[in-house]
Amino acid sequence: MRSTFVVLVALALSVSAFPFTSPSAPHLSTSVARRQDNTTLAKLPQYDPNRKARAAAVAVRNEGFIYGPSLIGEAAFFPNGTLGNARTAHDMDVWTLDREMIDVFVAQDVQAVSAAIAANGGLKSLDDYAKVLYEGQWVNSNPRGTAPGIMTNYTQDLLFSMERLSQNPYSLRLLKRNEPLPFQVEESVTSKLAGTTLRDLQAGGKLFFVDYSWQSNLTKSTLEPLRYGAAVSAYFFLHPRTNDFLPLAIKTNTGADLIYTPLDSANDWLLAKMMFNVNDLFHGQMSHLVMTHDVTEAVHQAALHTLSEDHPIMLILERHMIQGYSSRIVGEWLCFNPGGHWDQLMLIDNIGCRDYVTDTWPTLGRYKANYLHTDFKARGLINEKGKYPFKAFPFWDDASEIHAGYKAFFKTFVDSYYPTEAYIIGDYELQNWFVEATKNAKSVNKETLVEVLTHFGFLVSVGHHALNGGDPVGSKATLPYHLPAIFAPPPDTKGVTDLLPFLPSVKQSIHYIGFIATFNRQFYEKDKRTLMNAYTDDPLLARLNDATKRGAQDFFTNMKALSDKIRARTFDSNGLSNGLPFVYRTLDPDFIPFISAV
Ligand SMILES: *[C@@H]1O[C@H](CO)[C@@H](O)[C@H](O)[C@H]1NC(C)=O
Ligand SMILES: *[C@@H]1O[C@H](CO)[C@@H](O)[C@H](O)[C@H]1NC(C)=O
Ligand SMILES: *[C@@H]1O[C@H](CO)[C@@H](O)[C@H](O)[C@H]1NC(C)=O
Ligand SMILES: *[C@@H]1O[C@H](CO)[C@@H](O)[C@H](O)[C@H]1NC(C)=O
Ligand SMILES: [Fe+2]
Repeated sequence: MRSTFVVLVALALSVSAFPFTSPSAPHLSTSVARRQDNTTLAKLPQYDPNRKARAAAVAVRNEGFIYGPSLIGEAAFFPNGTLGNARTAHDMDVWTLDREMIDVFVAQDVQAVSAAIAANGGLKSLDDYAKVLYEGQWVNSNPRGTAPGIMTNYTQDLLFSMERLSQNPYSLRLLKRNEPLPFQVEESVTSKLAGTTLRDLQAGGKLFFVDYSWQSNLTKSTLEPLRYGAAVSAYFFLHPRTNDFLPLAIKTNTGADLIYTPLDSANDWLLAKMMFNVNDLFHGQMSHLVMTHDVTEAVHQAALHTLSEDHPIMLILERHMIQGYSSRIVGEWLCFNPGGHWDQLMLIDNIGCRDYVTDTWPTLGRYKANYLHTDFKARGLINEKGKYPFKAFPFWDDASEIHAGYKAFFKTFVDSYYPTEAYIIGDYELQNWFVEATKNAKSVNKETLVEVLTHFGFLVSVGHHALNGGDPVGSKATLPYHLPAIFAPPPDTKGVTDLLPFLPSVKQSIHYIGFIATFNRQFYEKDKRTLMNAYTDDPLLARLNDATKRGAQDFFTNMKALSDKIRARTFDSNGLSNGLPFVYRTLDPDFIPFISAV
């Protein structure tokens, strides 16, 4: 399925304690309660006794939803028209309830941490950033705390390399055996680190690459305090003897083009990794917007134009799209507005963000090409059999288990509503949805439908929350290591003695953490709004058939088991957890929502 339409998403937030004023809320029409009919059984159109009335209702929706201009760059259309505007207003109302809750928590935490920093006389060392800013802090907005190990082991190389296989697995790729090497590394270095040459690593399928050099072309924020970055590129490798996955070199691509390696001084190498993290944070946060929000909104909008509210597929899509159209509005309003949070905190400004979205929509916006297995195989991270070459691949282990849970559920669902392919052919609403979404009448079959639905569920949960949502505040966006920008120009020569000038001020640090904290939705666990509860909501289930209800129970059981497993993770005698020097719990199915909540 090629989604030709498109859209975008976001980060939320406005906290009164923050040192800036938010623009006023966008004007939205009065919200309309959506129908919560839990009495009528969902059915395929060909078996609906009221086919005429149903077709008329679909026609009304088709006219009431209009494909309006994309928000935040040129990606997916955004709903417009009477129904489109009512829908977005409703989604904003629902989102606002969550936001008001998290904003109160963040404001309390900002007060507490400000007092702790004042008592400490400021932030005077890297250690202060890790301890004073975090220990016993953010208890209301991030009660789960920081991921065990992330604040104590952040200088370790294994943490840096393994973050490519956990925190952000979307930028790493294997270098193909015959492609030109992006940059050279001295043979004395590769020999010492890997016992071989760059060429041999590449020839052996053991050389991996992350390219962030394209970030040099995106426009930067010019607000105070001035911020800097280095648009780095980096090599990682599988050690030919130990098979450990390790970093080899980081090259800056703005100005001096220095090549840093683990053999440099501790300060130089740590600074290189921090410069990498600046680019990685941009990539993770901005790519999630395109890959998950834009894509699912586009596919869902096609359904709004073609499927009846009584269609079983529509019930499932609606479940995953609760408050789905709030994100890009909030993004325009509070994140990517000129002079907004993003411009104040990050390196690349809102224009650069919009350009990134427009530039990547043709690739990140693809549907089938970004299926979990297809994408990771294309980047050389798994083979034809779905096996990875690493000792451990924490993201993959959890993500593929959730993917399998979805697939089993949707196989049951599709088999129960479509016993044979003839049922698919007879479902003209389904056919229309595919035509609408792909502009292409290629016929859909049962297998395709299972894949399409699996990917949809995967995107709004795993895809979204692997990168965005509640995880960053306690792991992939923690200071002093995971920086939004560096605050002094990248050096022209090696030999940096003091890293403090590169770190954010107290005010900037609190603003950054507070901003990231507003994406958390820790109260979803208590509210049963987490992934494992995706299909156990009574009003939804009541309208689906019995086979699907049993499938939903299996989904819950499988996801609960994974959650229990993740929550039991600790360190082994080497101080590692699943091969990492920190505990990877990002994808806990009783923590991540089943919707792209922010
Ligand atoms: C909806 O469409 C109208 C008319 O084209 C336009 O003025 C308005 O900005 C659109 N709204 C959104 C949210 O895109
Ligand atoms: C990582 O941090 C945890 C908690 O501080 C510690 O127990 C563990 O030994 C550390 N691992 C390594 C490899 O240093
Ligand atoms: C930046 O843009 C220039 C001009 O379009 C192009 O030649 C160059 O390759 C781009 N650099 C990167 C790193 O994308
Ligand atoms: C339908 O919803 C109402 C109100 O939420 C609830 O009281 C009722 O038990 C539901 N019926 C079924 C069959 O789930
Ligand atoms: Fe998001």
